[in-house]
Amino acid sequence: MNELDAMVDSARAGFAQAATPADLENAKAQYLGKSGRITELMKGMAALPVEEKKTRGAAINVAKQAIEAALNARRQALADAELETQLKAEALDVSLPGRQRGPGGLHPVSLTLERIEAIFSSQGFEVAEGPEIESDWFNFTALNTPEDHPARSMHDTFYVEGGSDKAPNLLRTHTSPMQIRHAVQHVKRYRAALDAGLPMPEIRVIAPGRTYRVDSDATHSPMFHQCEGLWIGENVSFKDLKVVFTDFCRTFFESDDLVLRFRPSFFPFTEPSAEIDIQFQSGPLAGRWLEVAGSGEVHPNVVRNMGLDPERYIGFAFGMGPDRLTMLRYGVNDLRLFFDGDIRFLSQFR
Ligand code: PHE
Repeated sequence: MNELDAMVDSARAGFAQAATPADLENAKAQYLGKSGRITELMKGMAALPVEEKKTRGAAINVAKQAIEAALNARRQALADAELETQLKAEALDVSLPGRQRGPGGLHPVSLTLERIEAIFSSQGFEVAEGPEIESDWFNFTALNTPEDHPARSMHDTFYVEGGSDKAPNLLRTHTSPMQIRHAVQHVKRYRAALDAGLPMPEIRVIAPGRTYRVDSDATHSPMFHQCEGLWIGENVSFKDLKVVFTDFCRTFFESDDLVLRFRPSFFPFTEPSAEIDIQFQSGPLAGRWLEVAGSGEVHPNVVRNMGLDPERYIGFAFGMGPDRLTMLRYGVNDLRLFFDGDIRFLSQFR
């Protein structure tokens, strides 16, 4: 093998060993660079006689072209390999099922709350919200609940540390504290009119939200929902309560085939008080009395705690259970299903 063929072979071997483009450029410099072997051979030709120059030049050129060809082939091979690794790293398995964004939906109890709000709004009620961490005053005392009332005991109420209006110390056991909170705000807004003996616009409000009691079984959850209703004016009677609530129930359940019963009961903050039961006249629940709310004429002591004169202002309040209404509306028999977060259950209400 002549010296030029040997050089081409060693160039090929050098290029083949280059693992990266940078290695390859270094290897190239050894042959084709400024002081590379080919360049040196070219320079060396200056000393040759003219005849030899021709043949020698041609031979060197053949070698040079062979080296350049080997270089380009190796460059291409390295570039191909790089592309290959990149493609592997970014590989997509187009046979996998696509990732979809499932359609969302409101929780069934939220659907009920929206429904309640829409129905009462159409009857001229405002919708108010209040804190879930409440003070003893708003949750019990202002609602005419005696110090020794059983609902205050540790068995029913979740207490937290603290214990003043500034440091609320319990999770509200009902939405009734919103009667006081909302009425006090309302009275403040119309204080000047009241002081001047002018009539005050009626208080007509519902207050939906979460409430808490130490209780847990198929029909009781430690966290549940209530919706308070309050209507106070100069001439608001039990009759109005009956009209408003009957109308609400029939609209909510989309049925006139529904009767209501106001069953005498007791709440410290209403007098007289009544549980409201409903009965469907047809369908799967027909014939059973179902309790849906507590209610009554607001107690004079409570009216006073609202900042109003009970001789002049009177009205009714009710507190209903949206969870219960949801169960009845959709035929669900275990309350806990609402709060387990099982998507198979919840997606049925989409
Ligand atoms: N707050 C009562 C309860 O939780 C319900 C109620 C509200 C009763 C308003 C009368 C008036 O059971």
